[in-house]
Amino acid sequence: MGVTRKMKPIAAGRAPELVQMDAAAKPGPPAEMIFGDWYPALRADGLKRGDTATTTLLGFAMLLGRKADGALFAMRDLCPHRGIPLSAGWFDGETVMCKYHGWRFEPCSGRCEEIPSLTSHDHLEPTKIYANSFPVREADGYAWVYVPPVGAGRVMNESALPVVPELPKFTERYRTAHLQAELPCNVDHGIIGLMDPAHGPFVHQAWWWRSAGSIHEKTKKFEPIDDNEHGGFGAGFRMSPHAPSSNSAPYKLLGKPVTTIDFVLPNRRYETIVAEKNGRKLWFASLTTVTPVTASTCRIDVLGAWNIGYWVPGVPSLVRYFGAKFVGQDQQTIVEQARGLRSNPGLMLIDDADKPAKWYFALKQRRLTGKGEHPLSEPVELHWRS
Ligand code: FES
Ligand SMILES: [Fe+2]
Repeated sequence: MGVTRKMKPIAAGRAPELVQMDAAAKPGPPAEMIFGDWYPALRADGLKRGDTATTTLLGFAMLLGRKADGALFAMRDLCPHRGIPLSAGWFDGETVMCKYHGWRFEPCSGRCEEIPSLTSHDHLEPTKIYANSFPVREADGYAWVYVPPVGAGRVMNESALPVVPELPKFTERYRTAHLQAELPCNVDHGIIGLMDPAHGPFVHQAWWWRSAGSIHEKTKKFEPIDDNEHGGFGAGFRMSPHAPSSNSAPYKLLGKPVTTIDFVLPNRRYETIVAEKNGRKLWFASLTTVTPVTASTCRIDVLGAWNIGYWVPGVPSLVRYFGAKFVGQDQQTIVEQARGLRSNPGLMLIDDADKPAKWYFALKQRRLTGKGEHPLSEPVELHWRS
């Protein structure tokens, strides 16, 4: 059977969008990963009909793409016949064809549609064979991929899966910006870096943000988030609504803003800042995720949305510029940290500044083992200087 449709060669990996990691940065030790949840695989808004892209998610090489009808797909980048990456082959907008023996797969289901070598003497039914495909949804410009527990097999009932994460928006019109950076550390270090209140004055020193001299004592209230908030399977904790740090210049632009920060397993930090000014709702929201690429490396994605000055041209580029600086400072610090972590040293977590990190580790253990209590039985107050 000849190839009748035009097949596009499958694209090679995509470069991270903004913050490039030093190629010499070697990762530290691995961490256990949480399977059975949704992770942002890549930006889907850049994936046009007929396009494909490769990425790595929780150690799996993945092939993502968009069919001619607009449907996204996410497959394991591996032919079930002899293991060659499917990305070595072709995609014609309908089916993915393996480079080695030309097997064709419908990429959303993974079902094999054709084995060119079969003759009328063969009784093998190609459609009984499946390549590995994963549930995928588009939200906030991401392709969110559900990575099932190891050995769980194909997901048959997608309606039983947890809800796909989404950035909260508070008005109809808003702007967004996205940033991404690779980190040469395991997901645990990426996440505890994300919730670490004490590094700000040292890592993020900048005239436009704040200086180390402005360090002062803070008291913040935290409360537990149970398993069913944020769409199920995601216990976490919330920094209770508070007026944000008055020493941060960008916050002064708003009236009396109220900030809420949620951390939810496996990897999500939601921050919302909402204010009322002259009867109008002004808001900024962000969803930051730290996604395991492999057991010892991860990637941070920051997605911001706001309605403050959304009519002003150039604001998204400005947000991206300063955001990239900010994320770049974290990234640079982690590149340096990875040099130390390579010898797998013993480390410590101190009270109260590292308490959120302790909660994260307890919640993660609880999720992995299915045993144990939420580390926060009631609201608590933490104190630290930053
Ligand atoms: S290895 Fe893919 S068709 Fe044979
Ligand atoms: Fe930081």
